[in-house]
Amino acid sequence: MITTTGLTKVYRSRGREVTALDGVDLHVREGEVYGVVGQSGAGKSTLIRCVNLLERPSSGTVTVAGQDLTALAGRGPRANAALRSARSHIGMVFQHFNLLSSRTVQANIELPLEILGVSGKERERKALELLDLVGLADKAKAYPAQLSGGQKQRVGIARALAGDPKVLLSDESTSALDPETTRSILQLLRDLNQQLGLTILLITHEMEVVKTICDSAALMKGGRVVESGTVSEILATPGSELAAELFPVGGEPSGPDRTVVDVTFHGEAATQPVISQLSRTYNIDISILGAAMDTVAGKQVGRMRIELPGRFEENVVPIGFLREQGLQVDVADIKTPAPADALLKEGAK
Ligand SMILES: Nc1ncnc2c1ncn2[C@@H]1O[C@H](COP(=O)(O)OP(=O)(O)O)[C@@H](O)[C@H]1O
Ligand SMILES: [Mg+2]
Repeated sequence: MITTTGLTKVYRSRGREVTALDGVDLHVREGEVYGVVGQSGAGKSTLIRCVNLLERPSSGTVTVAGQDLTALAGRGPRANAALRSARSHIGMVFQHFNLLSSRTVQANIELPLEILGVSGKERERKALELLDLVGLADKAKAYPAQLSGGQKQRVGIARALAGDPKVLLSDESTSALDPETTRSILQLLRDLNQQLGLTILLITHEMEVVKTICDSAALMKGGRVVESGTVSEILATPGSELAAELFPVGGEPSGPDRTVVDVTFHGEAATQPVISQLSRTYNIDISILGAAMDTVAGKQVGRMRIELPGRFEENVVPIGFLREQGLQVDVADIKTPAPADALLKEGAK
């Protein structure tokens, strides 16, 4: 539904160049909820603005629903009209809602339809239908100032749906909301995704959002996508940074010369017998540093962090034993920092 190839965006301001996107290849399938995560400045907002051509990419292509938007941008009036029409099928939801305070809720939702030249009667019908869909049927005549944050975002979502989009883009749409309201908005997005078959590309810095509603995710760093895949694929990828963030287990090694291992299991697989078998077979003491069960992308996942005595080289055989049991085993790279290391880090801050 959304494909970008080699998407690059270089901003030039006051003689300086910032490469906000550096060759992004993204692939969002029809009907999925796709999350893009990454730290501030990673290029997430630029990516989403390039997907609907609010921002002109410096190079690369953007295809939405089979239409190459980059081929249309800025190629004369006819192409511009085609771009406007293509864009009306892409809804966008913002962190700060971007509602017009002088307009009623209904008039805010009608705005994109006015721009498309839809008749008054039809606009009203559509706006009321959308208000019903987002659970605000009684707020048509209210003004944004009379609404809570969650209600404002519901209006923002209704407005984004006015053009019957196939794709909804969301840039941190829950970041300004409290946890409970966030949950209800995520539930609404999930419902819309399922009821309307809407494809959703959302940006967030909260892993909880990805855990709750995303089918797939990508991690961005410095304008690049450094990891991507379905959430299940990500969780099954050894050494995945996204997986560790999606599903952290705490636990620091108890001292130097210890090997810390994260064991991930899916479904009901019981690790406990495997761990005690490991302990008996190799006659080693194993400590459990942390363990957690969680539902990620609708599936039960468990992770256990264990500690084996000795360095990694001494534990190759026991680790091989765990892998033979069909468990996913990641050797955690946790070093007890030397005092000098810690000082350097402090200095860097
Ligand atoms: N309009 C702009 N002009 C110049 N630099 C920009 C502009 N927008 C974003 N940037 C820069 O591009 C990089 C990526 O920004 P952004 O896409 O907003 O990241 P994110 O949404 O992940 O925080 C940052 O270094 C940012 O300062
Ligand atoms: Mg941003």
